[in-house]
Amino acid sequence: MKTHTLLMPLDMHLHLRDGVMLENIAPLTAYSFSGAIVMPNLVPPVSSLDDLVAYKERIMAAVPNDYFEPYMTLFYKNYDRKFLESVADELTAIKLYPAGITTNSEGGVSSFDIEEMRPTLEAMIELDIPLCVHGETDGFVMDREAEFMSIYELLASSFPDLKIIMEHITTKEAVEMLDKYDNLYATITVHHLLLTLDDVVGGMMMPHNFCKPIAKRPEDLDALLSVALEAHPKVMFGSDSAPHPQDKKESSGCAAGVFTAPIALQLLCEIFEQYDKLDNLQDFVSDNAQRIYGICPEFKEVTLEKREFVIPKKYSSVVPMYAGQSINWAIQGVD
Ligand code: DOR
Ligand code: ZN
Repeated sequence: MKTHTLLMPLDMHLHLRDGVMLENIAPLTAYSFSGAIVMPNLVPPVSSLDDLVAYKERIMAAVPNDYFEPYMTLFYKNYDRKFLESVADELTAIKLYPAGITTNSEGGVSSFDIEEMRPTLEAMIELDIPLCVHGETDGFVMDREAEFMSIYELLASSFPDLKIIMEHITTKEAVEMLDKYDNLYATITVHHLLLTLDDVVGGMMMPHNFCKPIAKRPEDLDALLSVALEAHPKVMFGSDSAPHPQDKKESSGCAAGVFTAPIALQLLCEIFEQYDKLDNLQDFVSDNAQRIYGICPEFKEVTLEKREFVIPKKYSSVVPMYAGQSINWAIQGVD
């Protein structure tokens, strides 16, 4: 049987939620990943040292073993230097949301005034804290990410020593930015390596494929595949797995978010094998992230095997992408 082994897989963009959802969902990622960058968009968002430490404790209590590291993030505000010094040891990055752009982002940034942001961003540079960005404007839905490129350019050129991660990129415009500024990096989800807008609203409307940023055009998908399959050194896997209860997805007013945490590595093996690039998957799911973030995860070895795997219809209250469909790779075991 064909197998493929991955060492220390990392999910560099993950939503774990809180309460019962956290308890149900966190073990799924902890099983097959060594660590994950945990998003701070709780209600209210994680924005103080106490919130952050308490949230990390709740995550650790929810995962059944010690071989999983939640890399914590804080919700971006124009924090002062003294505060950032006090939290720097506890966090891995700060996540910036434009106000109101997606789930639980109402308290985000409403104007990208560089002078207002300067003290915070300069302190982040000195303390070596990367800035993760949800890069969308409030424009027309298909153009939101492309319109945000000028803001990435402004941030990257005004703060050349700030490590900026363009989260969950979905367009060829964002791919092109990678080689334009030394300090711009990106995460890519597995669903954006599989879906276009056609898979969301091209036939029957598919709520479990609906997320922000929305999946785009075939040429955007090709651009994303080109950098992911080559494991471009500035690109990392980040699932943006975003669980919502089934009734919040299958309703009028569908919540944005695609749930992929327990099936991400299997789908990635399938995609990378299809293009004969399995040898590059290790860089994409771990080594690039270790280098970019300077993190050293605990040892974990995940072996996948090539056999039919029928994706469960549900994981507790959450319906995953491709629920009930059969794919070609399954997890054989984890050491
Ligand atoms: O689709 C999304 N869901 N995009 C985001 O940016 C947030 C996420 C969520 O938290 O549900
Ligand atoms: Zn996200």
